Amino acid sequence: MLPLATRLRRNRQSAWVRALSREHNLHTDDLIWPVFICEGSDQRIAIDALPGVSRLSIDTAIHEIGAALHEGIRAFALFPVVPAPLKTADAAEAVNADNLLCRAVRAIKSALPDAGLICDVALDPYTADGHDGLTDAAGYVLNDKTVAVLVEQARVLAAAGCDFVAPSDMMDGRIGAIRAHLDDAGFTQTGIISYTAKYASAFYGPFRAAVGAASAGKPIDKSSYQLSPANRAEALREAAQDADEGADMLIVKPGLPYLDVLSDIKQSLGLPTLAYHVSGEYAMLKAAAAVGALDYDRALLETMLCFKRAGADAVITYAARDVARLLRAA
Ligand code: PBG
Repeated sequence: MLPLATRLRRNRQSAWVRALSREHNLHTDDLIWPVFICEGSDQRIAIDALPGVSRLSIDTAIHEIGAALHEGIRAFALFPVVPAPLKTADAAEAVNADNLLCRAVRAIKSALPDAGLICDVALDPYTADGHDGLTDAAGYVLNDKTVAVLVEQARVLAAAGCDFVAPSDMMDGRIGAIRAHLDDAGFTQTGIISYTAKYASAFYGPFRAAVGAASAGKPIDKSSYQLSPANRAEALREAAQDADEGADMLIVKPGLPYLDVLSDIKQSLGLPTLAYHVSGEYAMLKAAAAVGALDYDRALLETMLCFKRAGADAVITYAARDVARLLRAA
């Protein structure tokens, strides 16, 4: 017999002791389900790049969000599929108080007042080139001119009734500017969830196809505003700035490849911190499962738990309803 005072396997020897010594748990309260909203009625349009995910018209979205609420999911991130003719150099549709997203928010809130609604603030659904902001003649994304549009975009979404706006554009100073603009307009209760550490990532491909971004299928370089995957300390500077400017919560995006960043931000600032398990990550799980390389359900639950272990308070995932199903079965 080895003379061991500590045998770590003692705490792993049976189901009950493993459960008792478990450090992290997953709950449906930790899930945010992204929903793609399209025009029309009775629409449910499959997205090839994201198996199991569809674009939903407002009526269908109300039906599905209602079902998800019954499954225990309480928060939803809405993304509009904006018709191509409405995409312009000045992104004017972003500030139209009657645009698709605003109409969706009003309809969902009136049908399902308990649904927590989070709306993306960025210009990429509305610009002719698919950039998140307005560009100059050379194609450079202009910071302050973009922020002037973003604050208006946030205001129309707040007026429509969304609970939190989620700026995903990575312009400097947008959190403070949006906070001031919302407060001036009387929307002091509308919160801001900042995409604080949003990386210039190759993992967003399926999302851009799903929303029909002008950049879909083409290489688009967002590295003059999104963070470099090489940088970790810079993410902390972003997060500290956003917290100072009034962000209520922070998002790290993508998810799994950036757990170090998530952990740093959660530990150093203490704000509720969310992981975005992005479209490419979800698509990889589906693709690997489709060729029999892994078990989707087990890999999915493990992925979610790893977010929690790294410090995430919640996870935005296309697989939210699959996770809810697996938690019910557990
Ligand atoms: C747009 C936005 C993107 C995503 C969420 N909001 C794409 C991008 O920045 O190009 C990606 C989400 C995903 O891949 O699941 N600002």
